[in-house]
Amino acid sequence: MGIAQNHGPSGHGLSTLIGQAVTAIDTPALVIDLDAMERNLAGMAAFAAQHKITLRPHAKMHKSATLAQMQMAHGAVGVCVQKTSEAEALAAQGVHNIYISNQVVSPAKLQRVVALSVALHAQGGQLAIAVDSMEGLQRLAETVHGQNTQIRVLVEIDVGQGRCGLPPGASAVPLVDEIARHPALHFGGLQAYHGRAQHLRSVTERRESIAEVVAQVQKTKAALEVAGHSVPLVTGAGTGTFALETASGLYGELQAGSYLFMDRDYANNAQDPTQPQFEHALFVKSQVISVRPSHAVVDAGHKAHAIDSGQPAVHGLALDYSNGGDEHGILHGETLPALGDTVWLIPGHCDPTVNLHNHLIGVRGGLQQGIVEQIIKVDARGALT
Ligand SMILES: Cc1ncc(COP(=O)(O)O)c(C=O)c1O
Repeated sequence: MGIAQNHGPSGHGLSTLIGQAVTAIDTPALVIDLDAMERNLAGMAAFAAQHKITLRPHAKMHKSATLAQMQMAHGAVGVCVQKTSEAEALAAQGVHNIYISNQVVSPAKLQRVVALSVALHAQGGQLAIAVDSMEGLQRLAETVHGQNTQIRVLVEIDVGQGRCGLPPGASAVPLVDEIARHPALHFGGLQAYHGRAQHLRSVTERRESIAEVVAQVQKTKAALEVAGHSVPLVTGAGTGTFALETASGLYGELQAGSYLFMDRDYANNAQDPTQPQFEHALFVKSQVISVRPSHAVVDAGHKAHAIDSGQPAVHGLALDYSNGGDEHGILHGETLPALGDTVWLIPGHCDPTVNLHNHLIGVRGGLQQGIVEQIIKVDARGALT
């Protein structure tokens, strides 16, 4: 089986891989086990359907219009992104229902947000955005004033993460009052996401944390209702806790993203029996390029996978991976692989790992015997603004 040539940044030549065996994929490369990914996709879609809750997966994870469309074909109402440029990149590839679940305050970016909203509106789509300050809201309102569009605005409250968001309770009221004064805006509800809670290891810790989140949401909703505002939606939740937000009955929309690929960090969470179980579907294919008596070296260092959540796990082999620098990984274990062997790595954190790659290589039929079926572009790679 020939090796496809020229896997440079343009991806030129990658399409020649389609139909070839997994062995033809040059290393390091980011590979999706399509069968596993589709089981994750179906598991989440079934959960949302069973619990009659809307799914708006976070596309910051895969940054790919192809995967966003696939999620929408399986019932997702649209996607979330964190950045204006992520929204632009996905919209340019036909994703028309996008929620920027983050704060945008720069006038230049707000111009882009409004232009995108106008464009999506014209195509029957919709843009939504989070706000957490009166100043940010007024900037948005001024920018959208007189434009041929309407933006759905979610007021973000800080439910424990200590990041963006107003304090829960009555502080959301003046913002919702202000939204009502602008015909080009409408109040979409509350953004209430607790990122750290996702990665608490025990089920009990996660339950306690989300019980507190839910109490804060309830308090805010009650304050808004007293002020005469109904709350059309509460949106939030990630792969670690979404069953808990669902069970609260308060949330109407789930933003989980990582469930599609399942990184090593998430696999360290104790399984909550009320959530579907997801499988690892994202791998870095690497090759052993040096073998010493004490260790082996693979050609994938932290330029091939993100290490903010720790080093990757080695798939299917009793080996420990430690960091060998930008381009190298060091393997230790009783039985070392041989020079030239393939080693599959499970990245510590899927989102920033994907952002290191231009393409995802989709494989059907497993990592050993499979065939390359699809090359998926990471459309919003490097979309940080
Ligand atoms: C606002 C927001 N919502 C949802 C998610 C999805 O979380 P996960 O990928 O862990 O499911 C994230 C991830 O960081 C996020 O920042």
